[in-house]
Amino acid sequence: MHSFKELIQLFEEKFAAILPFPQVPDSLYEPCRYFLQIGGKRIRPVLCLMGNELFGEIGEDAWHAATGIELFHNFTLIHDDIMDKAPLRRGKATIHERNGLTAGILCGDVMSIYSYDRLANIKTSLPQILHLFNKTAIEVCEGQQLDMDFEQRDDVSIADYIHMITNKTSVLLACSLKMGALLGGATDGNANKLYEFGKNMGIAFQLQDDYLDAFGATEKLGKQNGGDIKANKKTYLLLKAREGANVAQQQLIKDWLCHDGEEKVSAMLQLFKDTGADKACREAVERYSEMAFNCLEEVAVVSKRKAPLNELAAYLLQRDK
Ligand code: IPE
Ligand code: IPE
Ligand code: MG
Ligand code: MG
Ligand code: MG
Repeated sequence: MHSFKELIQLFEEKFAAILPFPQVPDSLYEPCRYFLQIGGKRIRPVLCLMGNELFGEIGEDAWHAATGIELFHNFTLIHDDIMDKAPLRRGKATIHERNGLTAGILCGDVMSIYSYDRLANIKTSLPQILHLFNKTAIEVCEGQQLDMDFEQRDDVSIADYIHMITNKTSVLLACSLKMGALLGGATDGNANKLYEFGKNMGIAFQLQDDYLDAFGATEKLGKQNGGDIKANKKTYLLLKAREGANVAQQQLIKDWLCHDGEEKVSAMLQLFKDTGADKACREAVERYSEMAFNCLEEVAVVSKRKAPLNELAAYLLQRDK
């Protein structure tokens, strides 16, 4: 069995070795290579490997799945950065910023296709695995569209928000675990419990991502912070601030939503604190993590084998990047 750290290391080696991109056209593949080499926490492939290792030794199919999943995740980031007009990712320039919009669109496209090419190597239950992956990919698109739609909407509820982040973020974490587990021969019962664990952990993960976008440090995050506030993203922080605001604060929030610029960011951050939204967000992270840990307990394998998953979940809870 491997620790979280060991799995990241093993994954990095494997991933670097299989990086599939040809040399020409350089304008397409150089930015792809650039993007994959500037870092990333590699959480999803590691979840897949951990899900697999719960049930035995890591098999070849799990590596195909893990590498395919990481390529898919990177594709979604490249397009997400276009949609969110983000200048920075992993402390470096985003592809559309560095190489232009066309490169951003096409690098994302080609990366998603290479992702499927990795999955095509899987020898066990490929139709079932592909169905799960495709269902997840469709949900990610739906979540991403809702995220964009919500920028323009003023009637987003907490339930709408949780639905949106479940789709855009948490189902991919859940799917990674489940794919690994199924490829390791898990029963449907265990695979589904792991899926629920991943889903709750993914919700906590996105809540934390929103929190860090507001209160984190750009140097640590490697992403420009305050971007969600500038874009009027309907984050948990904003929704909770509205909920906890008095009449004067309600008006301030409404006014700032019509503004742009750095002043808006500092004013909104203050409102998040004054209304207790910052604390509410941290509590929500704890709540969803707790639910995740409960689901993990129900997976029928000896608890010693779950240690790496517990380790990863605990890391995600206290991360600052
Ligand atoms: C960023 O995911 C996108 C979200 C779903 C919040 P990560 O924070 O896992 O990004 P990398 O791969 O580590 O850069
Ligand atoms: C992105 O959510 C989710 C996907 C890429 C599918 P965010 O837009 O919050 O992610 P970051 O903060 O840019 O990493
Ligand atoms: Mg986004
Ligand atoms: Mg984004
Ligand atoms: Mg974010």
